[in-house]
Amino acid sequence: MPKRAKISVIGGGNVGASCALWAASQELGDIVVLDIPPAEGMVKGKMLDLAQCGPMGRFDCKITGTVDYKDIAGSDVVVVTAGIPRKPGMSRDDLIATNVKIVKDVSENIKKHAPEAIVILVSNPLDAMVYTAWKTTGFPTNQIVGQAGCLDVARFKTFIAMETGFSVEDINALLLGGHGDTMVPLPRFTNIAGIPITQFISEERLNEIVDRAKAGGGEIVKLMGTSAYYAPALGVIDMVEAIIKDKKRILPCAAYCEKEFGVGAPGAGYFVGVPVVLGAGGVEKIVELDLNADEQKLMDASTEHVKSLVEVVCKAFPELA
Ligand code: LAC
Repeated sequence: MPKRAKISVIGGGNVGASCALWAASQELGDIVVLDIPPAEGMVKGKMLDLAQCGPMGRFDCKITGTVDYKDIAGSDVVVVTAGIPRKPGMSRDDLIATNVKIVKDVSENIKKHAPEAIVILVSNPLDAMVYTAWKTTGFPTNQIVGQAGCLDVARFKTFIAMETGFSVEDINALLLGGHGDTMVPLPRFTNIAGIPITQFISEERLNEIVDRAKAGGGEIVKLMGTSAYYAPALGVIDMVEAIIKDKKRILPCAAYCEKEFGVGAPGAGYFVGVPVVLGAGGVEKIVELDLNADEQKLMDASTEHVKSLVEVVCKAFPELA
């Protein structure tokens, strides 16, 4: 008999709770949300509240709030949202000193309690946190992946839909690089129902939309005083669904590259946003593309930035080098 999937989420804040909500509403499996002891009442209360949506939302999921890592045992997927979010005026990189310690501790617990799980990182600065989780767990690179591209490309598509008035469903786009100001939206790989985007939007206006997408997270932090959560969480859930249903979706994710797209070197790679095939095996493949010289230059700059963040991690924790 097929068993129900089990999805654990570490961190019961806005992103973690929204992941649980989206996962439950899509009836993806049983859900465990874990937080640390001062937040025991909060995480248990939130998940009891969510469980009580079942009769109305018509989902049969077992939903648990916990502070005990034993409850994540047997997870198919573990999502790491733990860490502090941005406040206005902060970049994602400003979070590194605090979040690297948190993600390291979380990763040690995942290694101990859910060694078979595919791990999806969301904590920021994303690309450095994926690296931290990889080094700490020692898991194979297919088992560790970061959510950023799904969100960033969704922002880009949303702004194109707002501009053109066409359905978001018909907008196809691609984005590479780190989850930061150097991310690389690719207008050349963007179309509406297969029709090149340049037929609908001038180059000048498209560049403005690219810039808005790149700064999309910061725009929200400025408006509401903290980081976004609905869309980041749904980005995660698209990935979770692809994994637990073995869908082989091609999604932009932070994945380990050591030769692809000119990133890193054999044995000394980095996690950066690239198109990957996501299925039951986690990151099953990286899909390479022929970038033109300008695109490659932007990708290289983004990779350099990711490397500088990883250096900060390795300085703080030399054992992760
Ligand atoms: C953002 C955060 C979650 O881009 O990184 O909104």
